Amino acid sequence: MACVVVVGSQWGDEGKGKLVDLLTQQVDAIVRFQGGNNAGHTLVVNDEKFILHLIPSGILHQDKVCYIGNGVIIDPNVLINEFAELNERGISTAPQRLRISDRAHVILPHHIALDKAREAALGEAAIGTTCRGIGPCYEDKAARVGVRMIDLLEPDTLKAKIAQAMAEKSFLLRKFYDTPLPSSDEVWRDYAEYGRILTPYITDVSLELHEAIQAGQNLLFEGAQGIHLDLDHGTYPYVTSSNPVAGSACVGAGLGPQHFSKIIGLVKAYTTRVGGGPFLSELHDANGNWLREKGQEYGSTTGRPRRCGWLDTVVIRQAVRLSGITSLAITKLDVLTGLPMLRICTGYQKADGGLLSYNSASLLIQSECTPVYEDYPGWEEDISTARAYADLPANCQAYLQAITRHVGVPLGYISVSPERNATIVMEHN
Ligand code: GDP
Ligand code: IMO
Ligand code: MG
Repeated sequence: MACVVVVGSQWGDEGKGKLVDLLTQQVDAIVRFQGGNNAGHTLVVNDEKFILHLIPSGILHQDKVCYIGNGVIIDPNVLINEFAELNERGISTAPQRLRISDRAHVILPHHIALDKAREAALGEAAIGTTCRGIGPCYEDKAARVGVRMIDLLEPDTLKAKIAQAMAEKSFLLRKFYDTPLPSSDEVWRDYAEYGRILTPYITDVSLELHEAIQAGQNLLFEGAQGIHLDLDHGTYPYVTSSNPVAGSACVGAGLGPQHFSKIIGLVKAYTTRVGGGPFLSELHDANGNWLREKGQEYGSTTGRPRRCGWLDTVVIRQAVRLSGITSLAITKLDVLTGLPMLRICTGYQKADGGLLSYNSASLLIQSECTPVYEDYPGWEEDISTARAYADLPANCQAYLQAITRHVGVPLGYISVSPERNATIVMEHN
């Protein structure tokens, strides 16, 4: 298996957590490489539900090692609470099973305050962020005033860095957004304590992963968010502040591209999006409500209702191009059961009558486009117990074949319920 990357090919929440949990059985270690606790990855095992925000979705398998790479940003308070929640349920988060990069950046209180204040100030035009401080933390990283995990181990360095990072932001928050912040000394005391707890976890993850590869281990890289939320390639500015494309696994884990052999693109059988931004195949009718209620489309992180719509193969084709996806994992196919007619968006009609087969960088052009659909008959049969492709009804197979025909990449996995084992593994895997 060597190095396999799992990425979301839409706007997040495609079911990455479920697939990573399933594939963990075949690997030695699981690596998160970007994003932070804006992610919410759900695992369901024997009717028990776990939602992970920072810890990789391999953690339920006690004999595997999980890594948080340098590209991830970490809210230490959230991480420590995640430890406690897992420990209460009998899952070990001991340092030998969870390794955290010394180069990963740290989310500080001013990042969260700034995220909230900016969203509030934008009003109707808000991005709809998760308000977890993601954008402001990556901003400080790029501005070279960020605090890294290694700094938590050096109290004097930490004190100076927090003071430096907060000086300008406290002024901005107080004077521009009328939002007070705790003093940098108070923040320092809290973060020094987090550092004390996290010390045994902090390591050079790039080095450990390199050694693991040299020892012949198989590694699974777990993307967060989705490719259309990518800072460079998504529907900017309605994006996150990291790069969820597969190539980001190299930078965010500290490995060269030669190790990566297989890229699995997660595709929800329809489309959802949380927050603002273009969504051409969005539904505002009874079908949209059906998808939201039957698919339980409410955010795993914020609980917000997700916007729902038909599957858009323009979005998936673009994801395949941007991430080099080699196979698709279709999820939530069972949610479509019972809808009499299904639509697949295959292209966009421009205002001048021309056809677009990709997402334009221009939000104006996107707003003037209308989706072009193909219609497919639905199916009534319960598919949640299907464990082989042949178990699926003919109309369901025809829907899947239409997806692969429009996207040009084979199906690797088909998920038919939230449970770990409710997955059809295609033969060529
Ligand atoms: P992630 O962020 O990509 O890991 O996805 P989320 O966990 O945010 O959202 C996916 C939701 O769909 C979760 O509640 C999963 O338990 C659920 N889910 C995953 N696969 C399936 C499936 O095949 N069928 C159904 N009905 N639910 C699924
Ligand atoms: P997983 O890993 C769905 C969205 C937010 C918002 C935009 C920017 O569970 O798929 P941010 O807080 O990152 O600055 O918000 O990105 N977003 C997600 N949407 N799933 C996620 O993660 C998301 N992480 C961020 O809703 O539109
Ligand atoms: Mg999610």
